[in-house]
Amino acid sequence: MLAVICSVTLCAVGEPHKLSALHGVGRDRDRFHTTVRRLTRDPLRDQGPRSAALRPEMGRYLDRDIVDWYRAHTTLFPSEHAFLADLERRPARRLLDAGVGAGRTTEYFAGLADEYVGLDFSPAMVDVCRTRFPDVRFEVGDVRDLSHFSDDEFDVVLFSFNGIDSVGGDSARQRAFGELRRVCASGGRLFFSSKNLNQLPDDRRLSVQIRRALAADDAAAVPLRVARGAGRFARARALNPSARRIMSRGGGLVADDRDGRQILRHYYVRPDVQVSQLQALGFSEIEVYGMDGERVASDQLTRVRGWWLHYLCRST
Ligand SMILES: C[S@@+](CC[C@H](N)C(=O)[O-])C[C@H]1O[C@@H](n2cnc3c(N)ncnc32)[C@H](O)[C@@H]1O
Repeated sequence: MLAVICSVTLCAVGEPHKLSALHGVGRDRDRFHTTVRRLTRDPLRDQGPRSAALRPEMGRYLDRDIVDWYRAHTTLFPSEHAFLADLERRPARRLLDAGVGAGRTTEYFAGLADEYVGLDFSPAMVDVCRTRFPDVRFEVGDVRDLSHFSDDEFDVVLFSFNGIDSVGGDSARQRAFGELRRVCASGGRLFFSSKNLNQLPDDRRLSVQIRRALAADDAAAVPLRVARGAGRFARARALNPSARRIMSRGGGLVADDRDGRQILRHYYVRPDVQVSQLQALGFSEIEVYGMDGERVASDQLTRVRGWWLHYLCRST
């Protein structure tokens, strides 16, 4: 069974000529894991000194294709529209748009603050922003170290499109949230989105993958979709040996290949755990929204589904 899944996995990653490398994996689990790691490693991993100091997930945002992908995204998500309306009612004095990317949010939010600062660790992203919005202030910087900003400098802080999830593991994430809290003045608002750990078990179930594949409109496409679904399932299992521990502790880095090209590690968090962490940092009035813009009731936080959620809270 394992050998079949491996074959399907490798077809799905587009390396069928390397199938022979996996023959007999049922007898050799270590060799299987080593081979999958080799075939699925991030292409940026071995690039020169510029990206060597960066984790692969961060290196991704230097990639021209990825920058262009973000540049082409110009619309807001439903929850962001709700936040925009809130900001229109109560404009910001100083707004920090952390992990601003190619400026998707700048277009909407910069005009609603007396002063707006877009910040991103990727110079390629910041270059695009500066070209698109020559009159707006952008900086290259890392949210884990905002020491060039003073305490309480902003009254609105954004970190959109799950940018916080590519900052790193527990300690990096904690550092980033600590810095965002420090620069957010008392009474200020923090608005961000993050991947939802509650959604993960569905994707890791073979039955769910197969059911999705069978739901294809085009019957001829079903076998390929089944193979791809099984591949995704096998790959997710192989790449995330500590998934159970992440599920039980409510958060952690998950290798996820949802863009189908690269294996990336993103932080997934259970919403009730995220809320507790925000409270511990000194945020209150915490509201959680689904991707449809609907508010999630607090008694639903341990089970609400959806790939990501938006969080709005107030610094105390
Ligand atoms: C998923 S993109 C979102 C871009 C943009 N906010 C949007 O909504 O289109 C995440 C962005 O966060 C940036 N980023 C990731 N880690 C960062 C860090 N430690 N400090 C600053 N920016 C970071 C990346 O360079 C990337 O541009």
